[in-house]
Amino acid sequence: MAILAPTNELYADAPTRALRIFPAGSNGEFNLPPELVRVIDAGLGCRLRDTGGREMLDFSMGWGSVLPGHAREEVVAAVAGRVLGEAGPGTWGGTNFSYPNAQSLALGEELLRVQPSRDRRVRFCASGTEATMHCLRLARAFTGRKHVLKFEGAYHGSNDEGVTSLFPGGTTPFPQPEPSSAGIHADYTLVAPYNDLDTTRRLIAAAASDLACVIVEPLHRCLTPRAGFLQGLREACDAHGVLLVFDEVVTGFRLAYGGAQQYYGVAADLVAYGKALGGGLPIGAFIGKADIMDIVREDRAGSPEYVWTASTLGGNPISCAGALAALEIYRREETYPALHALGEGFREGLRRVLRDTGHVGQVIGDGPLGQIVFSSEPVFDYRSTIRGDRVKSRQMMLGLFRRDVFVNPMGTKLYLSLAHNEGAIEEFLSRLGSVLRQDVGKA
Ligand SMILES: Cc1ncc(COP(=O)(O)O)c(C=O)c1O
Repeated sequence: MAILAPTNELYADAPTRALRIFPAGSNGEFNLPPELVRVIDAGLGCRLRDTGGREMLDFSMGWGSVLPGHAREEVVAAVAGRVLGEAGPGTWGGTNFSYPNAQSLALGEELLRVQPSRDRRVRFCASGTEATMHCLRLARAFTGRKHVLKFEGAYHGSNDEGVTSLFPGGTTPFPQPEPSSAGIHADYTLVAPYNDLDTTRRLIAAAASDLACVIVEPLHRCLTPRAGFLQGLREACDAHGVLLVFDEVVTGFRLAYGGAQQYYGVAADLVAYGKALGGGLPIGAFIGKADIMDIVREDRAGSPEYVWTASTLGGNPISCAGALAALEIYRREETYPALHALGEGFREGLRRVLRDTGHVGQVIGDGPLGQIVFSSEPVFDYRSTIRGDRVKSRQMMLGLFRRDVFVNPMGTKLYLSLAHNEGAIEEFLSRLGSVLRQDVGKA
């Protein structure tokens, strides 16, 4: 039975209606041919069901936000409890106050507890895009410098810097930015090659007098940092009074409870969180050293360094209740060993299927993340990744989608969750085998 409609009226022709009201039939970044457009009814564990009652294996998991798994009991109970209030509908409860509340206070304390030092403060917002935007604004205001340096191909959300040099042609000389969207200003963004510490050091030194920060996805998309790369960034930033911003929207609570800062042993000056933090509820958070964060204090309004950071839904009690429940799950002893074991088995399985089907490719990722790049050479940055066969990647993602594996065919990143198990992975690998045999052209 469908969740929302007691009759099927609300579900009738849903994909056609979606194509009519949403540009390209989606809410963003799903480049699907019209016949594959779906409307989701519900999820459970690592599966989704669409409005036609068709089940799909989910290897996107709300772009990684639903790390606990769909409809995970503890998260649902926490959200329902908070929504229903003291004694059911119509009694003291509430959905948003735009002010600190018991849940946002507890969540903020927990977030600060896992930071590398005690002198940190936090503010909430509603998405990863807002979190990175606030970090960049804070860095510029605190240092009084205009430029930020990002890595080619990095995504930091749909703010201007996030979509600068997101999918460039790969020939623009560093540090020149290349907008990947019309309507944005890329003028104060510099671009460096990920994993190339020498070049990045040189670019930082050359730009230092007007460089506010370096922002990095510590695990760049699915590419792992070379030994010493993040430490080297930390040192180069320190040498020039440049702030280091970790975009932990993907790595936060996914690679380790303390995120990439803990996993790689490097402390950042400002950190952006989203996705898994909310366990599927809308959330963003940015954390920084107290002296940086305190320039958002509203009693400083009017002073030259004051930074505006408001968010109507930031810290709303429902998202924070969901996040607290998700964190309680993540804190369990078995969580990260399980996620890493699952991820390793998954990536090994991807390599096996490539071998068995006669395709040449690189399998990348860490923790509960995996990706195939159809390249015979090792991949370590954006340019080496796009030298891979992107036509094959698209054929693979569409082939998976056609075989009822829910993925985002505009990307190639595959997300596991705590609801995935070996059975689900074998099911995926078997469908992938068919796709690679039947749909993906061999060079
Ligand atoms: C590394 C990274 N940063 C930021 C974002 C933006 O987060 P949101 O979509 O919640 O705005 C994303 C989203 O995919 C991301 O992958």
